[in-house]
Amino acid sequence: MNDTITLTRAPALDVSAIRAEFPILAQTVRGKKLVFLDSAASAQKPRAVIDAMKSAMETQYANVHRGLHWMSERTTDAYEAARAKVANLLNAPSPEQIVFTKNTTEAINLVAHAFSALLKPGQAVLISEMEHHANLIPWQMLRDRAGVPLRIAKITDAGELDMNSLESHLQSGDIGLVAITHMSNVLGTYTPAERIARLAHEHGARVLFDGSQAAVHRAVDVQAIGADFYVFTGHKLYGPTGIGVLYAKRDLLEAMPPFLGGGEMIGTVTYERATWAEIPHKFEAGTPPILEAIGLGAAIDFVQSIGFDAIAAHEAALTDHAIATLSTIPGLTIIGRAQDRGGVISFTMQNAHPHDIATLLDRAGIAVRAGHHCAEPLMRRLNLSGTARASFAIYSTHEEIDALATTLERIRSLFG
Ligand code: ALA
Repeated sequence: MNDTITLTRAPALDVSAIRAEFPILAQTVRGKKLVFLDSAASAQKPRAVIDAMKSAMETQYANVHRGLHWMSERTTDAYEAARAKVANLLNAPSPEQIVFTKNTTEAINLVAHAFSALLKPGQAVLISEMEHHANLIPWQMLRDRAGVPLRIAKITDAGELDMNSLESHLQSGDIGLVAITHMSNVLGTYTPAERIARLAHEHGARVLFDGSQAAVHRAVDVQAIGADFYVFTGHKLYGPTGIGVLYAKRDLLEAMPPFLGGGEMIGTVTYERATWAEIPHKFEAGTPPILEAIGLGAAIDFVQSIGFDAIAAHEAALTDHAIATLSTIPGLTIIGRAQDRGGVISFTMQNAHPHDIATLLDRAGIAVRAGHHCAEPLMRRLNLSGTARASFAIYSTHEEIDALATTLERIRSLFG
């Protein structure tokens, strides 16, 4: 079928050539061709990432920022080059505004600890009903630890952020931080980031976007959005696990106290006290994820060489095809009908538990995720115990969606 998409404004994307860059996609699973539709949980890795990490370990590896020797200097250069690549990816004003963390979860925990020092007494944090636990639990913990109230903006029945609800919370005048997903990992919904940031700022609040899903599929410009904080994780962007990113405005990074203490993050230390290193190092205690940063840098080079216009067009075509195809299956309900959505499709089937759907799809070599997707309160809001979820990436094809639909038809006949 149509794997080379040509749209008027976006360049064509050669999916066969892209797939050839991902060695794992040539695998068979249970004797069947692997159909990997679980990239929202973690994406597969291109050869460029595998090679960059392997090459660093084989030829150029030492600890960073400490050594006065050639190996350490070269490795520090590679680590800092990765930071510059992230800054370029997000259009951050400078690499110093990029902090490497372990993942999105750690980045949000960092903000929950460090930014709480800048909140005025009585100020609250506002999230939405469609947050991943990573953008809920740190705020619950902050509430329980420091009494910072947690407010929840509603979503509509279509699965979009209810802007009236967001605005009415902001009008209360006591919101210090709005922390919202940029794209829901369950509903696929993109949130209107620029509008949210503008509203938050009009009401004196700062804004954090959880870009774990969004940053993979579309170009993100933190300056155009007006984000105060933007976080994402490397492993969903075709990079390795163990590396995440926090972007923040310079004034915030400079004003916030450190999150973790230890080596690397200090200026001077006595037994009585310590001073902190300059940003971003103040927030990078201990030996950082050096190889993972190098791998993430290679992943960024890889996606940028393809281009986000082509990636977004390809994934939009896949999503349209999936919605059209799956909608024809009787008893199957797609959860979430946002106008602006990405390639994450949650669904339920009459009489079939999501875990059974995923298990039966797996027998056909098709990998999807099933369950609450780390968003239990959202499931309750939707009156569901869970969903099955297919999610797409640059290497996903129309044939894979057709294979999913055909197998779901067979599963339906089992459950009547
Ligand atoms: N956050 C990841 C997901 O949605 C793990 O699957």
